Amino acid sequence: MATIGDDVVVSNRKLERMFSMKGGKGEASYANNSQAQARHALSMLHLLKETLDGVRLSSPEFPFTVADLGCSSGSNTIYMVDVIIKHMSKRYEAEGFETPEFSAFFSDLPSNDFNTLFQLLPSYGGDSMEECLASDSHRSYFAAGVPGSFYKRLFPAKSIDVFYSAFSLHWLSQVPDVVLDKKSTAYNEGRIFIHGANEITANTYKKQFQADLGGFLRSRSKEIRSGGSMFLVCLGRTGTDPADQGGAGLLFGTHFQDAWDDLVQEGLIASEKRDSFNIPVYAPSLEDFKEVVEADGSFVVNKLEVVSGGSPLVVSHPDDAAEIGRALANSCRSVSGVLVDAHIGDQLSDELFSRVASRATSQAKELLEQLQFSHIVASLSLP
Ligand SMILES: C[S@@+](CC[C@H](N)C(=O)[O-])C[C@H]1O[C@@H](n2cnc3c(N)ncnc32)[C@H](O)[C@@H]1O
Repeated sequence: MATIGDDVVVSNRKLERMFSMKGGKGEASYANNSQAQARHALSMLHLLKETLDGVRLSSPEFPFTVADLGCSSGSNTIYMVDVIIKHMSKRYEAEGFETPEFSAFFSDLPSNDFNTLFQLLPSYGGDSMEECLASDSHRSYFAAGVPGSFYKRLFPAKSIDVFYSAFSLHWLSQVPDVVLDKKSTAYNEGRIFIHGANEITANTYKKQFQADLGGFLRSRSKEIRSGGSMFLVCLGRTGTDPADQGGAGLLFGTHFQDAWDDLVQEGLIASEKRDSFNIPVYAPSLEDFKEVVEADGSFVVNKLEVVSGGSPLVVSHPDDAAEIGRALANSCRSVSGVLVDAHIGDQLSDELFSRVASRATSQAKELLEQLQFSHIVASLSLP
């Protein structure tokens, strides 16, 4: 069970109802701490374009539809949707086809800050599709927000041409109940993440990830149009051991873990309080991912690989240890802060993340060298 503040208890099954990146435009907001994701996405642009080149061009009498799943609230999603639509419209032009109208769905959990996202959206520009596409400051597509979990159905059958999802599928639908159950052998005592956990706990997370990904693929296989494609990127790992979560392990399993331990040692929270919090993230190996795609069987794999490299820390002064410390704390808070605030309240959450910052400051050089992410990149389409 996770708690909201000190007394309202929320089942972990309801995490999907409360979870989101930190909204707004403040210092620890996702909108202000997603430059690293933007860089990772740019480094994979050639792979995205390869996927788009394989999409069948649909008849211009129907809109061409794109959906970003796990869009969050920053400008990354707007940039990527724009890239996808411009690329597709160039393909229509190059092949001498009439360009259809474009429709983009921005989808995320209901608690996502859609307001901030919609305020960042440029206005729809121009009377004709040609005018829209020629304008850099306007959008050339109709936009809509779709609230809901991507582990379930979100769209009508056969309605989407391109699914894009970046840096989202490693978020589980829930922390498995047994991981928080003191009586279970999977109880993750003393830890707030599975990095370094025992084999049973780590395998429980793996099973949760695979069950979730199965639900994702089943839903998308119904919603995608024949000839459409999916481009998926999520955190991954290069090793086989699920208890070694690679870059995700360093992000959530070192300074963040130590900061929770600080709060316990200083008597600010009980150890049970720490142990009843777990980060619902799983960075899969290529094999973990592939097993699910093959078992589901709805999609053909055009590409499935691990792309390694890229730090979540974006700093202007790499010699400034305090800036690196703050960057780690903000980056961690922008993605997990909503869950932490709900579990221990805002004040203790401030204490926790200030300890993350000071611990990270004291290890800034090592962090900058060692904190590197790996991503699973998948390009899938219907047979
Ligand atoms: C790190 S953000 C990625 C944002 C964006 N795609 C980007 O490239 O910057 C991860 C997003 O996944 C969303 N997410 C996590 N679990 C989800 C689920 N089950 N269904 C829909 N969205 C989910 C989160 O709410 C969050 O906005």
